[in-house]
Order: sequence, then structure tokens, then C-alpha cells
Amino acid sequence: MSTDKPAVPLPGGTWSLGELTVTRFGYGAMQLAGPGVMGPPADHDGAIAVLRKAVDLGITHIDTSGAYGPRVTNELIREALHPYPESLHIVTKVGARRDEQGGWPPARRPADLRRAVHENLETLGLERLDLVNLRLGDAQGPQPGSLAEAFGALVELQRQGLIRHLGVSNATRDQVAEAQAIAPIVCVQNMYNLAHRHDDQLIDELAGKDIAYVPFFPLGGFSPLQSSALSAVASRLDTTPMSVALAWLLQRSPNILLIPGTSSVAHLTENVAGAGTRLSDDDLAELDKIGSGHSVAG
Ligand SMILES: NC(=O)c1ccc[n+]([C@@H]2O[C@H](COP(=O)([O-])OP(=O)(O)OC[C@H]3O[C@@H](n4cnc5c(N)ncnc54)[C@H](OP(=O)(O)O)[C@@H]3O)[C@@H](O)[C@H]2O)c1
Repeated sequence: MSTDKPAVPLPGGTWSLGELTVTRFGYGAMQLAGPGVMGPPADHDGAIAVLRKAVDLGITHIDTSGAYGPRVTNELIREALHPYPESLHIVTKVGARRDEQGGWPPARRPADLRRAVHENLETLGLERLDLVNLRLGDAQGPQPGSLAEAFGALVELQRQGLIRHLGVSNATRDQVAEAQAIAPIVCVQNMYNLAHRHDDQLIDELAGKDIAYVPFFPLGGFSPLQSSALSAVASRLDTTPMSVALAWLLQRSPNILLIPGTSSVAHLTENVAGAGTRLSDDDLAELDKIGSGHSVAG
């Protein structure tokens, strides 16, 4: 792995998570585990190669969770990249565990969270985690309810020096506000993409407070984004729909950080190049219709 700075800066530039500078183009490691995000990958060496390529390309933000595998993606990250370059910031999340069917039941009691933070430290080979997101809600999305007890447990671990910064994930606007009333947060990680724009207002509010918004499923996750408008804009610009979807997020708001997932070096390289695609006002107007419920084919 090269530690030289890449010759070409990544699209989108950088963002500050507290005092930590990260590239707005990051990498989401979930796709590196086996099918259903359970067990090891079919291609172990391929997974290691993707992680090393991400760092070689200049990416300094990797998103993971002890629940991916479980433990698998953290162990791959450690194998591929430890000792970590100083510039690299690994963001993890706690609040769900895996059951034998591959489900994601909540694990948000203080004891669960303490265990999860220590397990992340161990599997990633770190003494302090740069950023821990408290994952709320369930597979259907955010659910109402107080996060005070769970978030308070993470604040206590932060006070003990085990966590640098906190964030929330899969959260309602009320929960984001409740967290902020308890302790500073540096990011919100929720589902958002061209076709799923429930958080538009939240993104703008967070931008005004210099809090990052990190969309998960930026490319549609397990159901890739498909829309006639997206395909039309991509073909006009002679690029791919995935590139346009990422470029749109970077142009949507300066506080949006990308963590697209891929298990392929070729896709990673393509996504980095494509996210720099410049979208005109006409392109943006056409793409805006997707989120209004028009043109979505799947
Ligand atoms: N907080 C939460 O609750 C939560 C939930 C889900 C995910 N996340 C995080 O968000 C990250 C991103 O989500 P995600 O990975 O599930 O979804 P995603 O980034 O929306 O999409 C990933 C999918 O797109 C495919 N893909 C990527 N680049 C491509 C390209 N250039 N051409 C064709 N296909 C391409 C990948 O397949 P290939 O492997 O074949 O490239 C993969 O199937 C995750 O890695 C994880 O870190 C967080």
C-alpha cells in the first residue's frame, strides 16, 4: 500500500468531522462480508485489494460496523490496512447485533453498547474509535422513541477516552435533536439517495450547523437505483447512472459525505472518477423529478 498523496484530489474535496479531516468521497465496507452481510467474503484477497485501493486512491473515510459479518469487515480492514495511515479515519456503528437468521435485532442497552465498543476496538486494532454512530430504528427505517439511555452510555465511553466523536444513524429528526441536547454529534447517517429524499430538510438543517450527513444506500443498496431520468442524464453525459447518482449527492449539499459500497476494485475506481461528473442546472432539474416520485422504474 502506498502512503503517498494521490496525484489527483478526490471529487468533493474534504470535510471536517470535529478536528478530523476526511475526504468527502469515502468507502462503505459492508459489501465486503459474505452474502447477506454474514460470514467471510467469497473472495478474501479481492476484499483486501478493494480496501488497499481505497486508501491508494486517497480515501480517508471508511465506514464499517462490528455487525458486518459479524466482525468480518472490521477484521478485513485491520488485515488490509493496519497500522493505519494517520490520515485514515474509520467510522463504526453500534446498536444492532446479528441473529442466526442474519437479522439485525437491536442491541442498545448500555451493556450491549459497551460490549460492542470494546469489540470494535479489538477487531479494528485501535485504542480509540474516531467516530461511533448509534444505530437506531430497525430494518424498516427510523422509529420514534427516546435515545437518551443508549446515547448516554456512548457519551460515558467517550468520557473514558474510548471514542473521539459521536453520531446517530437511522434516526428521526426528533432523535437527532435529542442527541444534540445531550452531547455534540458530528454526523447523521441515514438512508438517502436520488429516489429516497425523506431527509431533504434535515440535510439542510445539519449543513447550517456544520454537521455531516452521510447517506447510506447512496446507490440504492440492495436494490440498485433505476430510473429513466437517471439513465437519460447519464447517457447525455456519456457516463454511468451510478456516477450521476454519486455526483448528484456531492452537488446536493457540502455536508454530504459519500460511503458507496463495492466489492470490486473496478467499480471503486469507476465510482471515484464518476463522482466528479459536473451536473448542469438542467441535469439537476431533471434528476430532481426522481425524488418527487416521477420517472422511477424500480
Ligand atoms: N447505518 C446503517 O444502518 C447502514 C445500513 C446500510 C449500509 N450502511 C453503510 O452504507 C454503505 C453503503 O451502502 P451499501 O453498500 O449497502 O449500498 P450502496 O453503496 O448504495 O450500493 C452498493 C451496491 O452497488 C453496487 N455497485 C457499486 N458501485 C457500482 C458500479 N460502479 N457499478 C455497478 N454496481 C455498483 C455494489 O455491487 P459491487 O460489489 O458488485 O460493486 C453493491 O451491490 C455500506 O457499505 C455501509 O457501510 C449503513
